[in-house]
Amino acid sequence: MRVGIFISGTGTNMKKILEKYREGYFSAVSDISFVLSDKTSAQGLKTASNLGFKTIPVPRKPGEKRLDHENRILEAIRPFNVKIIVLAGFMRILSPKFIKKFSGYIINIHPSLLPAFPGVNAQKQAFDAGVKISGCTTHFVDETLDGGPVILQRAVKRNDSDTLESFSKRILVEEHKLLPETLDIVTAEKFRDYCGYIKVEKHK
Ligand code: GRF
Repeated sequence: MRVGIFISGTGTNMKKILEKYREGYFSAVSDISFVLSDKTSAQGLKTASNLGFKTIPVPRKPGEKRLDHENRILEAIRPFNVKIIVLAGFMRILSPKFIKKFSGYIINIHPSLLPAFPGVNAQKQAFDAGVKISGCTTHFVDETLDGGPVILQRAVKRNDSDTLESFSKRILVEEHKLLPETLDIVTAEKFRDYCGYIKVEKHK
């Protein structure tokens, strides 16, 4: 399966996927065709380029409508004919039209145990709420904010000595394992079509 990755920032999750791909970790990813960013200055674009992957910056123009921007993204990625899009820190909400085009084949990583703490600054939301456990979630993307069907989750315990920074760091360490694992499961067809989504059949 051909895969594309969308990022907006540092791209450490993306980097893990690219490294794992190079190591031959994925059994059914035929190609990571591009890394796209809506931010030209995203550190992750440099990282991907240094690792020899195709990068596509598609910044939103001042005053540009969301759908017009999305159409330019679709135009830019069309030649690559990817089956799966991985959102690895992509900070834009995709329209239902865009999501439908990939009919359930968009996956996202979120730094909380969804459905708890959707939206931005999820680690801070959890930390400020005083939870003893948070973590990270991978899920299929639908029209709801961080609300699509869950694929995998990993819990991270909050220690009494944790600061927001140390807690977030440990969550990120788990994200770096969870996202490649999710991509492997999804692409290796351990899922089957169900209600318009690919549904979990068997976890590793
Ligand atoms: C991660 O915490 C991810 O869960 C969230 O955005 C962050 C991206 O980090 N959606 P990075 O760019 O992969 O380092």
